[in-house]
Amino acid sequence: MFVSDLALSDYRNYREAVVRFDEGTVVILGANGQGKTNLVEAIAYLSTFSSHRVSADAALVRAGAPGAVVRAKVVRRDRPTVLELEIIAGRANRARVNRSPARTRDVLGILKTVVFAPEDLTLVKGDPAERRRYLDDLVVTRVPRLAGVRSEYERILRQRSALLKSAGGGRRAPTALLSTLDVWDGHLAAAGAELLAARASLVAELAPRVAAAYRDVSDGAGEVTLAIRSSLERAEDDVAPDGDLEARLLAAMQRLRPQELDRGVCLVGPHRDDLVLTLGDLPARGYASHGESWSLALALRLGAFGLLRAEDPDGETPVLILDDVFAELDTHRRARLAALVREAQQVFVTAAVPADVPAELDGQRFHVRAGVIGEDGHDG
Ligand SMILES: Nc1ncnc2c1ncn2[C@@H]1O[C@H](COP(=O)(O)OP(=O)(O)OP(=O)(O)O)[C@@H](O)[C@H]1O
Ligand SMILES: [Mg+2]
Repeated sequence: MFVSDLALSDYRNYREAVVRFDEGTVVILGANGQGKTNLVEAIAYLSTFSSHRVSADAALVRAGAPGAVVRAKVVRRDRPTVLELEIIAGRANRARVNRSPARTRDVLGILKTVVFAPEDLTLVKGDPAERRRYLDDLVVTRVPRLAGVRSEYERILRQRSALLKSAGGGRRAPTALLSTLDVWDGHLAAAGAELLAARASLVAELAPRVAAAYRDVSDGAGEVTLAIRSSLERAEDDVAPDGDLEARLLAAMQRLRPQELDRGVCLVGPHRDDLVLTLGDLPARGYASHGESWSLALALRLGAFGLLRAEDPDGETPVLILDDVFAELDTHRRARLAALVREAQQVFVTAAVPADVPAELDGQRFHVRAGVIGEDGHDG
C-alpha cells in the first residue's frame, strides 16, 4: 500500500499543506525544527492514532488553533481510500472513511505503517513501558478491534488503582469498597486476558522474524530471543496455574489483594509485564553495546514490517517511515538497512542533510521549511 495524497490543516507547525506522493522512496529534507518529523508523524497517526513522540493529542494541534485535520488517500491494490481524522484537543477524534463518518476502529486497519526513529533505541535500553507500547501498537495494527480493549484496559486500571489508593493502606478497608473492588477485578481480568493472549500470539509470530532481521542487520552476530516476562507467572510463583487467562488473573488478584491494598497499586496484569530481549546469553538491556542496541532496535521494526506484510490479505507492505535514522548508523548498517527497505512499496525518509540519505534510496524529494513543504524541482 502507499499514501498518494496528504492534506494537513493546523497540524503541528503546518497551517495548510497539500502534497502528492509517489510510490517508492520519498525523501523529506529540511533543517532542524522545520517540520519533517511532524509530516511523517501525521501519516503514522492515521494508522495507530498514537504518536511516537507524545501521548496527549493536544500537542498535535497547531498552537492557537481549535483543531487539526489529517487527510490521506491510501492506495491498496490500485483502489484508493480517503481517510480523514479530525483532532480536537481534549475530545474524541472524529474519523471519516471516503467522506462518511466512521468508527475509529474502521479507520485503523486501512493504512499500516512501521516507524523507525532514533527514539527507538529506548525499545532496547528503556523502561518496560516502551516495549509494552511497541507490542500493543502492533497488536492493534494486527487486530483493530483490540484498540477498544486497550483503551478500556487503561481506563479500568486507572479506576482500580484509584480505588486501591482510597483504601488508605488496607487495614480498615470497608466492605463496600472491597465488593466494588471485586467488580473491578472482574473487568481487569476480562480485558487483561484479551491483551495477554494477543501479546503472546504476537510474540510467537514476531520472535523468529526479529531474530532473522538481527542476523541480517548485524551479519550473523549473535542470536536474539524475545520472551514475555509475565507478572501473572510471577504472582503464581509456586501455584500451579489453573483455568484460562481470565481465571488465572482473577485468582492472582485475590491472592495479592493484601499487598495491593497495602501499596495502592495493581500488581498483576499486562501493565506489569515486560518483553525481555536477549542477545546471546545476556539480556540486551544493560548489557548490549550501543551498536548492538541499534541493530536490535532496527530488527524489532524490520520484524514488525515482515510480520505485517506476511499477514496482509493482499500481500501489500506497510508504509515504512525512517525518521532521521541514517545519520545515526555506521556505513555498514546504512547499506544493510537501505537494501532491506527497498522491499517496501513506499518508504518515507527524513534527513536534515542530503548526505545522510544513502544514494540507493533516492526518489521523490521534498523540502520543508517552517511548516511549508514543496517538491524539489517544482514550485513550492
Ligand atoms: N502544536 C504545535 N504548534 C505549532 N508548532 C509546533 C507544534 N508542535 C510542534 N511544533 C513545532 O514544530 C517544530 C518541530 O518540527 P519537527 O519535529 O517536525 O522538526 P524536524 O524537521 O523533524 O527537525 P529535526 O531535524 O530537528 O528532527 C518545532 O519548531 C516545534 O516548535
Ligand atoms: Mg525530526
